[in-house]
Amino acid sequence: MEVIIQSSSQEASALGARLVARLVRRKPSAVLGLATGSTPLPLYRDLIRLHREEKLDFGAVTSFNLDEYLGLPPAHPASYHHFMRENLFRHLNIPEENTHIPDGLTTDVPAFCQAYEEAIRMAGGLDLQILGIGGDGHIGFNEPGSSLVSRTRIKSLTPRTRQDNARYFSTEDEIPRHVITMGVGTIMESQEIVLLAFGEGKAEAVAAAVEGPITASVPASILQLHERATILLDEAAAGDLRRSAYYRWIYDHKPAWQEI
Ligand code: GLP
Repeated sequence: MEVIIQSSSQEASALGARLVARLVRRKPSAVLGLATGSTPLPLYRDLIRLHREEKLDFGAVTSFNLDEYLGLPPAHPASYHHFMRENLFRHLNIPEENTHIPDGLTTDVPAFCQAYEEAIRMAGGLDLQILGIGGDGHIGFNEPGSSLVSRTRIKSLTPRTRQDNARYFSTEDEIPRHVITMGVGTIMESQEIVLLAFGEGKAEAVAAAVEGPITASVPASILQLHERATILLDEAAAGDLRRSAYYRWIYDHKPAWQEI
């Protein structure tokens, strides 16, 4: 696990975008795992800029999103379908048929989840998964207590996560209680993982995930067992880390061949 602390979310996101760009240039048919929420937005803006200014080509890329609310149609402004279309897909040349997001309107959840797993496998598996983190340490919508080997499935949101996402809905009642999410085990099979976290609201979750015990109570802590996980933080999100001076030293003294 490599922890990189930058002075702003923009700088940390630019590093994340460089990791994605490096992969797509090396492997034009890369399979990306994508996340929603406010956290990946600056990284997505950077990818759009690289596409426009440096001709970064997404024409052969495939993507799989982490999760979606059950019961929301794709056109709903709070759906992750809508989020991805507006904030990323419509600005890139990624073919629509190559983009996958769990179907919030499926009538057969177990069959859909199995098919989603199968589609990831058929695509050759995830090359790079982008992640945010919930204030309680969740990844995707794998709430605390999620099995660390779980696969794509239905989950019930905790009251805290519903509250955190309330800003996207007009009434409390409208906030979905159920979601489909890739499992922790699904995420862990990605060849590479890039987790971003910004702001002091994430500091406690980041410290627990990076320096705490590996536990289902903090699903992101399983990333300690991943061979290639990069944690990109701004100063505020790094605020509770005990070894931050060490992480900074490592980054400042990286040999040139290891630079991002
Ligand atoms: C939701 C998403 C997660 C995201 C989290 C944090 O729970 N399912 O993928 O990481 O929110 O959101 P934000 O980035 O807005 O803080």
